[in-house]
Amino acid sequence: MKITWYGHSTWLIETGEHRIAIDPFFDDNPSAPCKSNSINADTILISHGHYDHVADAASIANRCQATIVANFEIASWFSSNHSVKNTIGMNLGGKANLPWGSVKMTVAWHSSVLPDGTYGGNPGGFVIEAEGKRIYYAGDTALFSDMALIGKSSIDLAILPIGDLFTMGPEDSVEATLLVNPKHVLPTHFNTWPPIAQDANAWAKLIQAKSSATPHVIQPGDSITL
Ligand code: NI
Ligand code: MN
Repeated sequence: MKITWYGHSTWLIETGEHRIAIDPFFDDNPSAPCKSNSINADTILISHGHYDHVADAASIANRCQATIVANFEIASWFSSNHSVKNTIGMNLGGKANLPWGSVKMTVAWHSSVLPDGTYGGNPGGFVIEAEGKRIYYAGDTALFSDMALIGKSSIDLAILPIGDLFTMGPEDSVEATLLVNPKHVLPTHFNTWPPIAQDANAWAKLIQAKSSATPHVIQPGDSITL
């Protein structure tokens, strides 16, 4: 399984046959190495309603006939306001089965209004299961102790925000790593703009000193294999 970072909190998971995009933000993302029209996906996961997470989802979904998976309010907004044909609306704690595996929607402490002011339901994260691997994508969130419950399910990879200001910062994401106890951890939601600039290498040293997880510091456009 290949996992690619496109800057900010935009990710692509490629399994043998499927391409799962997470929070696609390309065209207005100053750290994205490419534009959204070069991205193909069959599933698009949306963690919450903010522009930096939903921006290019409709155009990719409509071009690729992809299924958007989001909370019920956001899924309904994509189908009624952006003519997205295939959506799966869910809510916190629920699991949705997909052709390649499943996603469970987890709690995130954040906000979720959509770009046009529409109520965007509750923000979330995802536990993604595919090809026998389990990935926890935390979404935009503060640190919370119930991450330990997510960690009970044996997480292979956690993708955690480190940008601070709008989400957890580096120190809290180290605490989150201890609670989730993943084998591997990737930082997200940082260095897109000056207010969320972070030293990912310093963060990785903290992770190595305090946890048993392996941190991976990669550049936008780079991938890891799981
Ligand atoms: Ni947000
Ligand atoms: Mn965000």
